[in-house]
This record gives sequence, C-alpha cells and structure tokens, in this order.
Amino acid sequence: MKVLIGTGNPAKLAEIREILGEIPGIEWVSAAELNLPEPKEEGKTLEENAIIKAVAYAKHSGLPALAEDTGLEVEALAGAPGVLSSRFSGKEKDYAANNEKLLALLSGKENRRARFRTVACLALPDGRFWTSEGVLEGTIAEEPRGKGGFGYDPLFIPEGESRTLAEMAPAEKNAISHRKRALEGLRPLFLALAKNPELLA
Ligand code: IMP
Repeated sequence: MKVLIGTGNPAKLAEIREILGEIPGIEWVSAAELNLPEPKEEGKTLEENAIIKAVAYAKHSGLPALAEDTGLEVEALAGAPGVLSSRFSGKEKDYAANNEKLLALLSGKENRRARFRTVACLALPDGRFWTSEGVLEGTIAEEPRGKGGFGYDPLFIPEGESRTLAEMAPAEKNAISHRKRALEGLRPLFLALAKNPELLA
C-alpha cells in the first residue's frame, strides 16, 4: 500500500524516511513525487497544522497521508517562536535569520531552556485521522555550531548532551529527536494498515 509523506521540506522528508524505515507492505511516496503543493499552515497550534496538512494531503492524493508540524518553544520567550517557528524572523524558512533573531532575544538571559515539539498526524482519504506528539528538551547554545540537520539544529543542545543537534550524525539526531518520538507513536497504525488494508474501506 502506498502512504504519502506530506512535506515540502526535503530535510524533513529525509529524516521521516530514515526514522520510519522499511515497513513491509508500505511503499512511501513523497508529495514532490506526486507534484502536490504544500497546504497552507493556517492553524493556531502545531496540532491544528499537522491535522490540516495530513487531511489535505490525504484528500488530494487519495492515499493515507502522514504530515507533521514542529515548533521550538523557548522558556524565556514564553514559548515563542512555537507555531511560528518557520516565520520567526519575518521571512519564511530563512534559517540563518531565525537563528540570529533567537540569539539576539536571548542575549544576556540566564534561562536558555527550550524544547522542540512535533505533532505528527496520519490521515485517511475519508477524513479519519490520528495524532501523536514528541518532545525533545534542551538548551539554546550561545552561537551556532555544526553543519548537520536544518532549522534551529545548530543552536539546540539536547538535555544530557554537549553537542548541538547539527553536530550529530543524522542517525544520532534521528534516534532521540522530537520527530522520532512523535512518529513512533504512529508506528502501530502503519503496521495495522500494512497488515489490514481493508481498514481503509
Ligand atoms: P514546520 O512548520 O514544521 O515546517 O517547521 C517550522 C520551523 O521549525 C522550520 O522552518 C525549522 O526552522 C524549524 N524546525 C522544524 N523541525 C526542526 C528540527 O528538527 N530541527 C531544527 N529546526 C526545526
């Protein structure tokens, strides 16, 4: 059975593919392969956006669709940038500008605690959906370090680590990440779908 991975972000797509790996009975297809545009993220929460995206992708493709929304929540900024993480600096998906703004706002602040939160959603073409959340606690570094990952990874030091996520190998990030934790919550559903395709009927 084909299952769509609904994201227009190639870095996210690579992580999701590596985290989910091979599931016998499931053939992963990407939104780019089907030429599907990314739905607008108009929700007020990560959960709303994950559901909006997965439901839209499932409807447009006629396939079960997985989507996720991720935010960085910084304690000293009352949870910002949160759901606005990709547009933090005002420019959509400008990672360097987002990181610069974050460092400027945290300058001189003692509390650098933060967490990544991911909500993943699996939706069926008939509109049924399920969600799962994953959190990674950590702190914001004083300056960007590392070339791996994407987004805020060069600034995020997971709890118990001294390296940023961008200093880790992809497999190391994918073993502990917010995205991994959210997706593992959906794995039983993928296994059930693969075994019983009639669940789609
Ligand atoms: P999205 O709305 O879920 O695509 O993600 C919002 C923003 O959060 C992205 O533009 C990235 O800057 C950031 N982001 C999402 N996931 C990660 C991650 O795993 N590491 C670092 N930054 C991330």
